[in-house]
Amino acid sequence: MLVEGPVELVLPDGTAVCSERFIVAVCACRRSKRYPFCDTSHRRRVRVEPDEPASE
Ligand code: FES
Repeated sequence: MLVEGPVELVLPDGTAVCSERFIVAVCACRRSKRYPFCDTSHRRRVRVEPDEPASE
């Protein structure tokens, strides 16, 4: 999710995280290693075809 910066994000534990960027990519998938900021981890996914048997 792209938001106009600068921003201050408050996490559920009360921690505040700031970004001074003009546009800030906020992670909405929770896969980011830089959470709450997006690190493009949302792009990496393993596709499982329902008709293919699972490989070992
Ligand atoms: S939205 Fe979560 S890593 Fe990009």
